[in-house]
Amino acid sequence: MCGIVGYSSTSNSIELSEFVSMIKSLDYRGYDSWGFTFKDADQLKTEKQLGKIETPNQQGSATFVIGHTRWATHGKVTKDNTHPHTSNSNKISLVHNGIIENHQELRNKLKDNGFNFYGETDTEVIPNLIEFHLRTSESVLEAFKKTLDELKGTFAITFLHDKSKKIFFARRDSPLTIGVDKDSLIVSSDVTSFIDRTKKVIYLEDGDYGYINSEIKIFNKEKEVHREISEIDWDVSKAKKGDFKHFMLKEISEQVDTVKQALIQDSKLIEKITNELKSSEVYIVACGSSYNAAKAAEGEFLKNGLIPRIIHAHEFEQYEKFLSEKSTIIAISQSGETLDLINAVKIAKTREAKINAIVNVQGSSLTRLSDNNIFMNVGPEICVLSTKSYTAQVAILMLLASSLINKPNESKQEIEEIVRHIYYLTSESARKHTKELSQILRYSNHIFTIGRGRDYATAMEAALKIKEVSYIHAEGFAGGEIKHGPIAMIEHGTPCIVFVPNKNNQDILSNAQELKSRGAFIIGISEKKDETFDYWIKVLGPDKFSPILRIIPIQALSYYLAIMKGLDPDKPRNLAKSVTVK
Ligand code: G6P
Repeated sequence: MCGIVGYSSTSNSIELSEFVSMIKSLDYRGYDSWGFTFKDADQLKTEKQLGKIETPNQQGSATFVIGHTRWATHGKVTKDNTHPHTSNSNKISLVHNGIIENHQELRNKLKDNGFNFYGETDTEVIPNLIEFHLRTSESVLEAFKKTLDELKGTFAITFLHDKSKKIFFARRDSPLTIGVDKDSLIVSSDVTSFIDRTKKVIYLEDGDYGYINSEIKIFNKEKEVHREISEIDWDVSKAKKGDFKHFMLKEISEQVDTVKQALIQDSKLIEKITNELKSSEVYIVACGSSYNAAKAAEGEFLKNGLIPRIIHAHEFEQYEKFLSEKSTIIAISQSGETLDLINAVKIAKTREAKINAIVNVQGSSLTRLSDNNIFMNVGPEICVLSTKSYTAQVAILMLLASSLINKPNESKQEIEEIVRHIYYLTSESARKHTKELSQILRYSNHIFTIGRGRDYATAMEAALKIKEVSYIHAEGFAGGEIKHGPIAMIEHGTPCIVFVPNKNNQDILSNAQELKSRGAFIIGISEKKDETFDYWIKVLGPDKFSPILRIIPIQALSYYLAIMKGLDPDKPRNLAKSVTVK
């Protein structure tokens, strides 16, 4: 998974430094290395850099430029593996997001035909295959089509040909959009790269390929097709840091609004989905934090009479034989592009299951595969870690759960009431207290997070947040499981974060006591202080909303741990926001 962007204009050139800032706006998709190619008369000129995106060495401007920011999958972080990849005679320069499954076979075929390879990426075969087909084609488009027919796997591609005043593109299972500006067209993995220029966008469909110059030509299955232009409905300021130092802190703070916004939904749509849920077998599929969100709401569904099967999207294949038109899927994804989830949804569709998505990104692949879309309405989430999208997902799932017992407004009213607690939890004074805790925990090797019931899901999400951004080993456990193994890890001073509900809290407090008696340093997250706590974070609000409320201080703690350790919280190592590979 990577970010790709291409700028094309027949009248207006773009400064290369400005083009690079467009690549930078996609760096949440990967930030191992970056590069770009521009057309200089009939020559293609390429610059490649390792590490984070900085000012380019190349000065000047160009009318046709393609660029890439890489998240390494095939091959290490080296210049040879950095995109754009050029064909042997430098006729084609190409950027790619996705995986070419048959790259080895194609590499062998091209080697037999005299081509050389310099890096380890699967991508490198594509420009060379286009060049190979150019020998027997009448146009670049024809050579491109022949190449696409040979590629197996997933991809979004854009490329330049030295003699053509065009940017060619194709998509299959990886996202690709076209920004339509007054005098330029921009092809990109995501609208964030052009939102400050234009809000007009075309979301390409699977199998689309074509080119842009002053016009847009799109083909699918060899026929020219027309794709509608949509309007992006969020503002550019949402994709900027504003007064915040990092997107992570900005997005944590936004939760005071986003949790409410998530519940502004079409009541007829919610009713329709709820009726489906009541009369079918329900599977909730998701990955990462989106999966944890489903687990956080599981108790509410159970309480209201529905047993959802909550399954990691990458494990969903095993359930295929149980699926039918009587199955309903709730697919949860911030990005709407997570490939494992997209594959799970495709499996469900072949069995005629109904697909309902809880999704943030408009026009994403998931939205086009689903029968119904519940949009999260939280605006763009730029930090790699999920924060505001996690709490929005939980809020929407709670809305569905309360709709099951015909009380859809119950969640809405209750959420209105808990907003003041979110306001406090995201305030500077609450964060100051969490910052103090990060000073205590910054040198820890392990942090354990423990909860029961709905707080077990919070413990899982809390551990995920801590490890993703601070690189401290963190693990979430169900309180009842500790004595079955994990307690062996406890030494003098091992930090254990314990989520304690207001009611029925004896069992979790006993677990805290057990841990303390082995020497653990207990951090309690609760409404009332308990004698077992060595450090206390006060969180007010009803237990029902504990998955939304109690995660917020841990999001902030994770942020401060990263800051204390001199790490970039928006771009943790080895991770990317939208994982479009298996
Ligand atoms: C990646 C991100 C996580 C996210 C997961 C699922 O691993 O780093 O933050 O939770 O993907 O993403 P999705 O967009 O499907 O919710």
